[in-house]
Amino acid sequence: MKKAAFILNFFKSWREVGSITPSSSFLTKRILAEIDFKKSSTIVELGPGSGPFTKEIIKRMSPNSKLIMFETNTDFYKELIKVRDPRVVIHNESALQMQNYLSGERVDYIVSGIPLSNLEVSHQKGLLRSIYSALLPKGRYLQFQYSLGAYKMIEGIFNDVSLRFVPLNIPPAFVYSCSKGPIAIKIN
Ligand SMILES: C[S@@+](CC[C@H](N)C(=O)[O-])C[C@H]1O[C@@H](n2cnc3c(N)ncnc32)[C@H](O)[C@@H]1O
Repeated sequence: MKKAAFILNFFKSWREVGSITPSSSFLTKRILAEIDFKKSSTIVELGPGSGPFTKEIIKRMSPNSKLIMFETNTDFYKELIKVRDPRVVIHNESALQMQNYLSGERVDYIVSGIPLSNLEVSHQKGLLRSIYSALLPKGRYLQFQYSLGAYKMIEGIFNDVSLRFVPLNIPPAFVYSCSKGPIAIKIN
């Protein structure tokens, strides 16, 4: 997808798309550095957009692994389904429906570009809870955001949250890398 088409989608639906341009290669590298491709067998990507992370994940995934994506925007979905790879499944569905599609399967990594702050608070909590439940005990949740607005909520659910700042992105971004840890969900 051309950058202009991404920008157009932002103007059509800014709340859903959340950024004016796809993530930079610097942000992509930062996110992917958190993934151990040798060990991971299932990766879920939420809000892949025009696919900057997707392309790199597919390049690095092992032959027996799987990538399952959820993307609400139909223009992005139509581009993403052009990927012909038997390891990849894409749903034109909200990440909020993830649990229905995974039907109990637990996964190694959940990578998300969803603009959390643009969701209603109840949806933010619902999504974070589904992410927590969908992860294997040693699984990791990787999320980028342009602000620290969601920090408290993420930290209320995941025990171990580390934060990195990536200045070379438009806009500059924070990367959350979260693991489940031994203690259960703390927020109501
Ligand atoms: C900030 S863009 C990130 C796109 C891409 N991952 C990147 O880094 O360039 C957010 C993406 O999340 C998608 N999105 C927003 N809400 C969603 C939801 N509830 N479920 C699935 N995708 C969603 C948008 O359509 C958009 O593609």
